Amino acid sequence: MKPHLIAAALLILAPFAAWADEPGSVTTLHKPPVTGEEVYQQICQSCHMANGMGGKGAATIPALAGNPHLANADYIIITVAKGRGAMPWFDDILAPTQIADVATYVRTHFGNNYPKPVTEAEVKAVAGAKTSP
Ligand code: HEC
Repeated sequence: MKPHLIAAALLILAPFAAWADEPGSVTTLHKPPVTGEEVYQQICQSCHMANGMGGKGAATIPALAGNPHLANADYIIITVAKGRGAMPWFDDILAPTQIADVATYVRTHFGNNYPKPVTEAEVKAVAGAKTSP
């Protein structure tokens, strides 16, 4: 193949290479998640796993399943909004209402039974009023 044809072939393939990287990425959302469950599935489960059991890889990912720390809503809000240790922060991609919904979701799933819903107002009070897109 002549060099300019190879260059053209690479140009054509480039978008596919980007697409191949997409699964598992936390920054390329297909559509904005609207429920706490969708936020969990699109963002959190890439690390904490679908069953909330966490795991060990580059970092130790704590289990959210049966996790007594989740009794403290403020702790989850701060963790999700501002990050913690090897966990990134999400207040630049999640709106306060989405942080509230995913906090409520993890508090009521994976064997956790803290039914009091986390509200958008709590998120704003605890993590500041910064809003996302
Ligand atoms: C890139 C991987 C990653 C993603 C994505 C992620 N987490 Fe984490 N998460 C971690 C790590 C690592 C820790 C442990 C941080 C530490 O204590 O050093 C953690 C800790 C936590 C904790 C504290 C657990 C405890 O017992 O102290 C909560 C709660 C939590 N994550 C919830 C979430 C939620 C909800 C989401 C989705 C919005 C999420 N995480 C997304 C990696 C991730």
